[in-house]
Amino acid sequence: MLSGKTVLVGITGGIAAYKICELIRMYKRANANVRVVCTQNALNFVTKLTLQNLSQNEVGVEEFDIKEFKPEHISYADEADIMVIAPATANTISKIATGVCDNLLTSIACAFTKPVIIAPAMNCGMWDNPILQENLNKLHYTILEPESGFLACGYEGKGRLCSLEKIFDKTVELLDYKPLTGKKIVITSGGTIENIDPVRYISNYSSGKMGLALADTAKSFGADVVLITTKEVSRKYDVIKVKSALDMKEAVEKEFETADCIIMAAAVADYRVKEISSQKMKKTADDEITLKLVKNPDILKEISSQKQGQIIVGFCAESENLIENAKEKIAKKGCDYLIANDISRKDIGFSSDYNEVTILAKNGGMKKLERVDKMTIARQIFEEIYG
Ligand code: CTP
Repeated sequence: MLSGKTVLVGITGGIAAYKICELIRMYKRANANVRVVCTQNALNFVTKLTLQNLSQNEVGVEEFDIKEFKPEHISYADEADIMVIAPATANTISKIATGVCDNLLTSIACAFTKPVIIAPAMNCGMWDNPILQENLNKLHYTILEPESGFLACGYEGKGRLCSLEKIFDKTVELLDYKPLTGKKIVITSGGTIENIDPVRYISNYSSGKMGLALADTAKSFGADVVLITTKEVSRKYDVIKVKSALDMKEAVEKEFETADCIIMAAAVADYRVKEISSQKMKKTADDEITLKLVKNPDILKEISSQKQGQIIVGFCAESENLIENAKEKIAKKGCDYLIANDISRKDIGFSSDYNEVTILAKNGGMKKLERVDKMTIARQIFEEIYG
């Protein structure tokens, strides 16, 4: 995703410095060239050797450690496409805001003319200090505000470093990464609604969040997005609202021919009521009633058999034997990829903002994506398909 880009990570002396090791790995996984500069104080929390190994580059600390004809701060500033200062302490923020250049990091920041992200992390009292807030306001950079919670100093309040995913996503956004430009991506989401009568229906617990995360991600990657969903959604891309599996099939068929990729994240009902009553069904004297259901068409299977160059991705919701069932399903459906998720877990899936999935490819390849927020899962799915 970040091939050809250089991310300059500036680490200052706060306890959240240890988290930046993982952020560096995220950038590396996305193929970025990562350069790291840190203040002397940052080295109290994380070692130079760790940062060097993770970034696979030398780590800058000393300002006058000149190796080329160009002063160090200028060569770092020239090489990088973006600078990410995380964690940014109150001290470094205030120095940058007032133009102080007393170490390599602040000197680079002063010379840097490309996008800068600042992710502050500090004690809540320091965060609330009006002098700090005034200095922050002077910076015309992207500030990713800290989050509230339990702080390492023992206090409860605003000051925790925001999530690494947020920093990563903002980096990608500011680098204007548009790998899906010119591609039409169709995504289905939500559980279908199968009417019984004018007041009752059969549906499922699908929240539509995973499909929405995929659609939002595709849009931010520059794709022409069509979201076919059973949920109420307002977005700047095409949203087609449907209800039943049959409605969804019709909408998918309409969009399919011109699509480059279709992702069926919707939970489509396997059966619908055979005869939908036009009037509200009345209670009878019987203790039991029988609803006759008929099979819905398998949309994913049908489009997979008609494909002409489109990439077709299915989802697979399983409550047991996840991988075994997913392998069977990808063969049965004939799609290119199948995203398998375990719906028996409460901490991921259906109405959660998090997911943990395994991507199965038609050629037998398999990749597990560890538990993370659905936006990150969405990004990783596109990386796998188009990477
Ligand atoms: N799907 C579909 N049409 C259906 C049922 C499912 O297109 N009538 C799609 C879903 O959108 C998903 C994939 O098929 O991408 C797998 O859905 P899932 O519910 O896991 O599997 P089913 O085929 O319904 O099989 P089962 O319920 O027996 O596990």
